[in-house]
Parts: sequence; C-alpha cells; structure tokens
Amino acid sequence: MGKYILTKLQELRDENLVSFHVPGHKIGSIYEKLGYKQILEEIYTLDTTEIDGTDNLHNAKEVIKNSQDKTAKIFNADKTIYLVNGTTCGIEAAIMATCNPKSKIIMNRDCHQSVINACILGDLEPIYIQTQICRKTNIIQGVNVEDVIKTIDSNLDAKAIILTYPTYYGTTYDLKSICEYAHSKDMVVIIDEAHGAHLELSNRLPKSAIIQGADIIVQSTHKTLPAFTQASMLHIKGNRVDEKKILSMLRFLESSSPSYLLLNSLELAVDIYEKHGHELMENLLNTIEEFKLKFKDRENILIYNEMDKTKIFISLKDLGITGYNLDEILRRDYKIQVELSNYYGVLLICTIGNDKEDFYRLEKALEDLLLKIKEKNVLEDTKYPESIPTKVLNPREAFYSSKKTIKIEDSIGKISGEYIIPYPPGISLISPGEIITQEIIAYIQQGVKNGMIVSGLKDTNLEYIDIIDIN
Ligand SMILES: Cc1ncc(COP(=O)(O)O)c(C=O)c1O
Repeated sequence: MGKYILTKLQELRDENLVSFHVPGHKIGSIYEKLGYKQILEEIYTLDTTEIDGTDNLHNAKEVIKNSQDKTAKIFNADKTIYLVNGTTCGIEAAIMATCNPKSKIIMNRDCHQSVINACILGDLEPIYIQTQICRKTNIIQGVNVEDVIKTIDSNLDAKAIILTYPTYYGTTYDLKSICEYAHSKDMVVIIDEAHGAHLELSNRLPKSAIIQGADIIVQSTHKTLPAFTQASMLHIKGNRVDEKKILSMLRFLESSSPSYLLLNSLELAVDIYEKHGHELMENLLNTIEEFKLKFKDRENILIYNEMDKTKIFISLKDLGITGYNLDEILRRDYKIQVELSNYYGVLLICTIGNDKEDFYRLEKALEDLLLKIKEKNVLEDTKYPESIPTKVLNPREAFYSSKKTIKIEDSIGKISGEYIIPYPPGISLISPGEIITQEIIAYIQQGVKNGMIVSGLKDTNLEYIDIIDIN
C-alpha cells in the first residue's frame, strides 16, 4: 500500500514542532487539552453523506440549519453558511452572487487570488485600490480610507467592494467608515476576513467586520480557530444581499457531497469558541505581552505586534538575516514552524491552541540566535513594487486569449498572460491582462535570489513568461 502522504504526516507530527502556523488547532493539541480527543478518535465512523437525518448543506433544513443558526447568533451574524472549500469558495460565491457579468467591482490590490478568479469566472472588471506597505518590514498595512473613498467616487457604477480585513499580518484600518460610505453609494461590502475569525474573542483585538457594518464576511475558521483545514464560514449581515443567490453559487463551487467531517469540525470549533475561547484568548494575549517584554529595547531584533495581537512579525534584519533564512533556521535548528516569511522577517500566527511552552521555546531560540550571530551583515534594500500595473484586458479576456512564451527580460512592456504571485502570502504582483513593468521583474528576480518563492508562472526557473499574443 502506498502510504506516501500518511508517512510524511506522521513524520511531521512526531517531529514535535512548535506550530506558529495554520491550522489553528495547532497539531491537534487544543482538542487533546480540552477533552475533545475521543470524538476525534471516532472520526472515521462519523464520515457519511446526505442520508435520512443528516440534512444537506446545499439546502439546509434540519441539523445543519440548526447548527448554522446557533453559530450565527454566537458570531453576531444574521445568517451563517458553513463552507467546506475554504474561504476561497465563499469569496467567489459572494462576488458572483453580487455582481452581474461585465460589472465593476472595487478591491484592494493585495487581494487573495480567489478574488481575481471570481473576476475570471464572473467576467467582472476589477478596480484596484493601492495597498500601503511598510518600508522597514515589507508588512502589508491595508488600504487608506481616503483612497477607498476616491475610488468609490470615481466608480459609482461598481456593484460591490471587497476588501481584505485584517491583512495577513493582522493590520487593520477604519472599516466602519468605509462600510458607511460604500452603503451611502449603494454598494455591497464584502470582507475577506480569512484571518479574522477569532477577533471577537477579546476586546483587546480589533473589531470584526461583522460588527463594523459589512454585508458579507467570509472567515477561514481553520486558520485562526480550531477547525480542520478547508472549514470556513460565510456570514451575512443586514438585507443588502440575496442569500439564495449566494447558496446557488455555492452549489457551483463546492462539492455536491460536502464532507461531514469538516462540518463537524466547524461545530467543534464553535463549541470551543463559546465555552473556552474568551478565557484562552485572554491567556494567549497575556503570554504574548510577556514574550514581547523579554525583547523590549533589545538590539538587533524587531518585534511588530500592533493591531491584531495574535500576529507577531519578527525581524533580525539588523543582523543581516533575511526572513527566509530565519524561517529556515527556526525550523531546522529549533523545530519552530512559522506561517510565512518575507525578505525582512517571519510572521507567526498564534491562536488559542498555542500555550506558554510554545512561547518559551520561541524565546529560547531567539535568545540563542541573538547570542550566536556575532557578525552583522548588511541586507540589500528591497522595494516592494508600489504602482499598480496598467490593465489592458480584463482577467477573463486575458485568461482566454492566446499566449506565447518569451524570455522574462524581454517581457517588459508586454501584456502578461500569467500571474506573478510571490508566495506567501499569495498576493499577485501581476495578473493576466496587465503590462509587465521593470519594477516587478527586478523585484521578483532579487526576491528569488534571496529565497522568495514565486508561484503562478509556468516556468519555475523564472527564465520565461507567457505573454498575450496580440498578433
Ligand atoms: C487573505 C486571504 N484570503 C483568502 C484566503 C483563502 O482562504 P482558504 O484557505 O480558507 O480558502 C487566504 C488563504 O491563505 C488568504 O490569505
């Protein structure tokens, strides 16, 4: 029997890694700690399909409906729909249920790929708002409210606006004002809250988009709460959106046999949220504060932990260590797995599944590194591309156009036929249909030299790129 995947997963589990990455249950430890182990040990006996009594996610009337209704109350939503294909399918359904083909939709430039994919599927015209990036850390800061208002004013025919809130790095902005302004112009507000399912667990955290006036909010329960990977939720607030249309779109985008194991894991996550979440979150935030204090005013280490305090960005760039290096060292030498790295540092996702011991091991690892690294190197500066490339074709036109392959250095000024997505966090620097710029090519070439992974391009060696063949 081929057991390639199983063997690898068992090896990983047995490595005893500290998890500062998703999923939020942290290698199952929260289930063990809180007494949910037995239910999960029986899990294979619970796998089923739509039979008498199990209800149907695509037309929920019984147990799934009851579960969703209870969750809606807990999350302050008017309606909650469970998702078994991640926030990805929730975003796509929300967009396509709100915008008819050929209409405009406003979005932050650093949107998740599912937003662009929805534009391809739904034949929509994306209108981008620039995202602010911190020069010192490459941390994505989110949009400026003034830029959002300007973009809305110049695109009053747009049907909807979709924004990422909070960003992957946990940064936030004044979403309430944005919702009020968009609503005054009759636009639906969709929020990609993939990284914010936990926000209402403490008033020391920023307010969730559900509270700030958004109409549709999609959350990756599996990322920041203890649900299984792929288990997400779509919440609806108010009456600006047609729930039936969202459900029809979800029938296109999700399996007709949704996994009961994933649905069950959502219910478990909500149970933990309700019974233990607030207390565990207070403990977590206190532990993070203590951890930060240990490194307060220390030389050569920068710890960014400003808004959503469950996200910690650590940089040793003053020692000449790139985030990619730090990521590798932490995993190899200290068995600590971070969520992502950029050139300047690493991002840790902490959840109510983490405990004091995880932070103790992190502290020891950083202390050790600060002691060991004697020589200061200077990191070459990198400049995240600021300007949004010019769009010549909409994503759908570009997707279906014929393409040809050319050398990457000859592609400047040509229309891209491919995505260029530095991973993580999976934000596209260029989308099909946009003009390739010198700035973008220079950024990815330097990034790859420094260890950045770029996805989207067919040629992983970054020698060639597909452009739109206009002849
Ligand atoms: C900002 C953002 N939105 C959406 C998604 C998609 O979420 P999911 O993995 O639940 O499909 C991700 C995944 O990493 C993300 O980072």
